[in-house]
Amino acid sequence: MGLGSTVIKGGTVLDQRGEKRVDVRIEGGLVTEVGAALQGDRMLDASGCIVSPGFVDLHVHLREPGREEAETIETGSRAAARGGFTAIVAMPNTEPPHDSLAVVEMVRRLGVQAGLCEVLPSGCITINRAGEVLAPMAELAAAGVHIFTDDGTGVQDPLLMRRALEYGKSLGILLAQHCEVSRLTEGAVMHEGGCCARLGVPGWPSVAEELMVFRDIELSRLTGAPIHFLHLSTAKSVDLVRGAKAEGLRVTAEAAPHHFTLTDDLLNGFDPIFKVNPPLRELTDVLAVKRGLADGTIDAIATDHAPHAPELKEMPLDQAPPGMLGLETSLALSISELGLDLQQVVALLSWQPAAIAGVADRHGRPIEVGEPANITVFDPNLAWTVSAAGLASKSRNTPYAGRTVRGKVRHTVFGGTAVVIDGEAQR
Ligand code: DOR
Repeated sequence: MGLGSTVIKGGTVLDQRGEKRVDVRIEGGLVTEVGAALQGDRMLDASGCIVSPGFVDLHVHLREPGREEAETIETGSRAAARGGFTAIVAMPNTEPPHDSLAVVEMVRRLGVQAGLCEVLPSGCITINRAGEVLAPMAELAAAGVHIFTDDGTGVQDPLLMRRALEYGKSLGILLAQHCEVSRLTEGAVMHEGGCCARLGVPGWPSVAEELMVFRDIELSRLTGAPIHFLHLSTAKSVDLVRGAKAEGLRVTAEAAPHHFTLTDDLLNGFDPIFKVNPPLRELTDVLAVKRGLADGTIDAIATDHAPHAPELKEMPLDQAPPGMLGLETSLALSISELGLDLQQVVALLSWQPAAIAGVADRHGRPIEVGEPANITVFDPNLAWTVSAAGLASKSRNTPYAGRTVRGKVRHTVFGGTAVVIDGEAQR
């Protein structure tokens, strides 16, 4: 693009092939040289940093169209780029939702216009996410949609889910389930457990999630179609997925940082900042999610970035919408809290979700000559304190404000362009 070459200098390249101390030259959107002492028109200092394939987030709420006061595709993309993501899957629960070609194409086009990362619209499984009639999946698939979900709600009707899996299998797309039997969670405010009982509020029982995980594992077995489980939050859900994988079923799963870092007792002050769906669970669940990430049961860390405007999020606990920000804190929480080596952390953030999202041809690629230059440079040791005001997201609902974490994105290169330099978005 007339910018000449960019060299990422002095870092340690870490990808699926291993780790090596080399510089990386980028030109025309591609990696053009990997080696020692490279020079370029623009130099990005990476000393003390890891240079890895760009991160891919399978689960982001961008709120546009319909809730632009909370986030737009541009502001969400900027938060993503600052979090090291070069591709994000946009969830369908916008207003109107992603159940038509018009909406899906608009989301994609606004993502291209923002130019900060690749925005991959998901498609609805059912019209208006109402769980009654299948969305035009073939038409959306032909337009390049790979992940289909009614996220925000699960598909309640088992026959409709079976049909969606059969249909999806013939189209080569992936269904992603928000596992929640909604009859069991009506009016729920937090995880149903000891803390919930003490506060006297209605709870989301773990079994509401686990029943649907079990049902969909069996429907995947029956149909031979792949299924992806969104934001697993309970120990038994993780065990069910572990068992399904051991049987060789076509099952993948993700977990969100808040489910491996926070517990339900944080709600004892009735603060809606900690309200999320699925809810924060108990320590045994947190430990099980961590174990699932460590042993390969859970394939990806996905943020479930869910911005909400303050006037909604600051309502009383029973009225405030569930959801928390995630894009700009995901890497740091993963490094700080999981106790995994960096290669495992990057696998969970980059090439493993890239494969699930169907973008492994261009994201999460090894850093080698000829590969698309979607690259994240991060300092794994830098300690910083999260501040809501310091985030690029249009909303402020992070539960981590004031928390000191380790690991920070320094530069993000998307399509060969440095869109984040020294932590600052360039557009
Ligand atoms: O906490 C959540 N927030 N869970 C969901 O399923 C939806 C999301 C949202 O859109 O805010």
